[in-house]
Order: sequence, then structure tokens, then C-alpha cells
Amino acid sequence: MARGDERAQALGQWEAVLEARAPTVLLARLLDVGPRVAVAEALEASDPEGAARAVEQPAGGAGAALRSVGGVMTVRRERESAGTKAAMPPRPRPDRHDFPTLPRRPIRMVLDGVSYLPNIGTMFRLCDAFRVERLYVCGFDLEAHKRRLLSAAAGTVGWVPWESRPDALGVVEESRAAGYLIAAIELAEESVPPEAIRSDAPLCLVIGAERHGVSAAVLALADQRVEIPSDGVGGSINLTTAAAIVLYAASRKYPLE
Ligand SMILES: C[S@@+](CC[C@H](N)C(=O)[O-])C[C@H]1O[C@@H](n2cnc3c(N)ncnc32)[C@H](O)[C@@H]1O
Repeated sequence: MARGDERAQALGQWEAVLEARAPTVLLARLLDVGPRVAVAEALEASDPEGAARAVEQPAGGAGAALRSVGGVMTVRRERESAGTKAAMPPRPRPDRHDFPTLPRRPIRMVLDGVSYLPNIGTMFRLCDAFRVERLYVCGFDLEAHKRRLLSAAAGTVGWVPWESRPDALGVVEESRAAGYLIAAIELAEESVPPEAIRSDAPLCLVIGAERHGVSAAVLALADQRVEIPSDGVGGSINLTTAAAIVLYAASRKYPLE
């Protein structure tokens, strides 16, 4: 990945300026900096031909698109302060008929002892939204037809691959043996913020229950402990809120195929 791409991704900034070797200076807005598709929209250019070439590049990263007009990409300013908004590409809701065949992110979500049905229902909804590979409800035998679960899940229970397991540790050990990185979402020593989550292998995320948190045995096995920095008096936040924040950060690193 080109250095400019990394910087743009790390900072979440899609405004970039192309500093050409020649006098050409192109201001471009990166619409997508995914690994497969790079689309740069030229905003201004002293070289209209170069701008046209940068408008759409099928592959190779945004850096390649910008370099194709001859230069080095540097992040110039934040999207918010740039006065121009980088719109997301259209995201049509998937057709229900095709949905089961669509790719899912290589992310497992493990609920370690979570038994409060509205929280489990919300986790179904999140796992659907981020199209995670599978949800593991651990610590008891889940009856997925319960009203409070269905109500929080908002119609997503049938769309998320899931299973109930007696304990989270078993799923974590299995996942580790299958090559998954284990990331415990927890307030813990030596934790990293969500944006520092690793993505060099499939991911197994573990989240704890309101009372007990992630079990000590799972924490001990984790490759990473991911913590959402909190500045409030409450300390911890609701587990589904924590899961949403971490899933969002992780999903940016595991784009759907
Ligand atoms: C309410 S917390 C449990 C807190 C636990 N009773 C304690 O005091 O240590 C429930 C779960 O949400 C997740 N969680 C809550 N706040 C978090 C934070 N700031 N960072 C990471 N995970 C968090 C963790 O997985 C935690 O186990």
C-alpha cells in the first residue's frame, strides 16, 4: 500500500492533494480507498487531461490513481474542514433472495456469558449490519424465538449465522486453532483503542456480560485487548454500544469482497 494511502486511511481523510513533479497540481477527492477500487474525483486541476485520468481508476488504490497523473499524494486537510463532503458510494439494500450467498466479513463475534435478551437481540442486529461471519452466544442455551430478543433484533435473527455454545473459551480455543486473531473487547491492562485492532488474519471478537465482563481465561488467551477510551464517570459502557464501536472500526479493515 502506498504511503499516501495509508495516511489517508489512518486519518480517515479523503481529501488529498496531488503534488506533481511538474507544475500540475491536482486537488482530488478520494471517494473510495478500498484495496480493490480507487475512484478519485477531480475537483480542480491545472491539467484537465490528468484530471480526467484520475477520475476513475479500476484498481491499485487511490494512490495509484493519483500517481497516474504524476505525483505524490499527501493528505491536505480533513474532510470536515475542507468544505466539500466526500459522499459514500450508493449502498443499495441487498436483495433478500441473494443475501445468503453474499460474502461475509471473516469476523466471529463471541458473547461471553451475555444472557440479557435485548442485548443479544441488538447483537444480532449489529452482526447483520456488519455482515459478520457468525455470532456465538455462549454460556447458556439460547431460545431464539423469545419476544424480547426478536424485538431488539428487528427481523435480523434469520439472517445471521449463529450458534449457542456452553462456554466462550471453547469457541476461542477453536478459533485460535483455526488461525483467527483473538481480540477481547474489554477495559483491561495493555489495551489498544479500536482503530489499532489487528487485521492480519480472520478475527474473533469476544465481548463480556454486563456483570462479569470477559472471563479471565479468555482474556489470558487474547492476542489483543481492545478498549474504548471513556472520559465519563461511568467507566464502562453498554456491551452492545462497545461492540458497535469496535465492529465499525474492524469492518473498515475487513472490506467485503
Ligand atoms: C458493562 S461492561 C462489564 C463491566 C464489568 N462489570 C466491569 O466492571 O469490569 C460489559 C462489557 O462491555 C464491554 N465494554 C464496556 N465498556 C467498554 C469499554 N470502554 N471498552 C471496551 N469494552 C467495553 C466489555 O466487553 C465488557 O465486558
